[in-house]
Amino acid sequence: MHMHRYEKWWLTLGTSSLIIFLIILGISAFHQGHQPPSAKAYINPEQVDVIAPFDEPGLKKVKGKEWDYELVLVASTFLYNPGEVEVPKGSRLKIIATTKDVIHGFEVAGTNINMMLEPGYISEYTTTLDKTGEFLVVCNEYCGVGHHTMKSMIKVVD
Ligand code: CUA
Repeated sequence: MHMHRYEKWWLTLGTSSLIIFLIILGISAFHQGHQPPSAKAYINPEQVDVIAPFDEPGLKKVKGKEWDYELVLVASTFLYNPGEVEVPKGSRLKIIATTKDVIHGFEVAGTNINMMLEPGYISEYTTTLDKTGEFLVVCNEYCGVGHHTMKSMIKVVD
């Protein structure tokens, strides 16, 4: 079969682009080590309910640490547990989160807190709550039909 000159050219271009794309993909995957930037530890996603601290999600006051409160949060389709917490203004808060099923997001609207929760990983973020208000936590990773209903609330009170 005779191949037109242009067809050959396009074929070569297509193949080269694909190779370049795969190289870039390989480099970035290697660079990040297949781990979300906020993830610190591994967890079996099927055992989340029985592994501490995720066996007791919620807000806890802690002592002798660099933060005052820990928010242990479990994401699943299509909710966050807990759905709402109240933290005193000025507290240093450490968020410790994971997912029981698929990838979910954890974005605190109006702040720069934005984590990806991936099955098998524990994501952490420490922040100081210096403003009172109601901060909505939303899922910013599409996770299915109930994605837009996934919400939690961090209330910072005086
Ligand atoms: Cu969970 Cu989108």
